[in-house]
Amino acid sequence: MRSGIGILVGTALLSAGLAACSNSSGSSTTTTKTAAATAAPAMKTTKVMASSNGLAVYTTNCSTCHQSDGKGAIGPPLAGNPVVTGDASKVIHIVNGGLTGTISVNGKTYNGTMPTWRGVLSTGDIAAVITYIRSSWGNKTGPVTSAQVSSTP
Ligand code: HEC
Repeated sequence: MRSGIGILVGTALLSAGLAACSNSSGSSTTTTKTAAATAAPAMKTTKVMASSNGLAVYTTNCSTCHQSDGKGAIGPPLAGNPVVTGDASKVIHIVNGGLTGTISVNGKTYNGTMPTWRGVLSTGDIAAVITYIRSSWGNKTGPVTSAQVSSTP
C-alpha cells in the first residue's frame, strides 16, 4: 500500500519534472537569444579597449627588458623613444623580427639583442602591444592593426 502511493507520487513528480524540463528548455532558448543580443555590445567594448590587451601582452613579454614604465633596462627605453612613435612600419619590422647591433636612443648607445616576436605572439597581440607602447608613458601615436603587422616584413 505504502509503496503503491510511493510509485504514484513518484510518477506524478517525474511527469511534473518532465513538463518542467520541456518548459524550461523552451524558455532557455529565449534566454540564450537575449544573452547573445547583450553580448554584441560587450564585444564592441573589448575591441575599443585593445590597448588594455596590449598592456597584458607587454607585461608578460616585454616588461622584463623594457620595464613596466617603459624606461628600459636590458632593452632601451620605449618611453620618449622617437623610433617607437615614428614610422609604424619600422616599429612593426623591429618587433616582428627582433633587433641586434648598436643603436642610439636619445644619445645613449645600446648593443643588445631583441628577440623575434613573429610566430611567438599572434599578429593581433603584436598589433595590440605596439599600439600600447606607442600610446603609453607620454607617447602619443595612433594604433597599429594586425593587418599592418602581417603585411610588414
Ligand atoms: C630579452 C629582452 C627583451 C625583451 C623581452 C623585449 N625586448 Fe625590445 N629590445 C631589447 C633590446 C636589447 C633592444 C635593442 C637591441 C639592440 O641594441 O640592437 C630592444 C629594442 C626594441 C625596440 C626598438 C627600439 C629602438 O630604439 O630602436 C622596440 C620597439 C622594442 N624593443 C619593443 C619590444 C616589445 C614590444 C617587446 C615585447 C613584445 C620587447 N621589445 C621585448 C630587448 C628586449
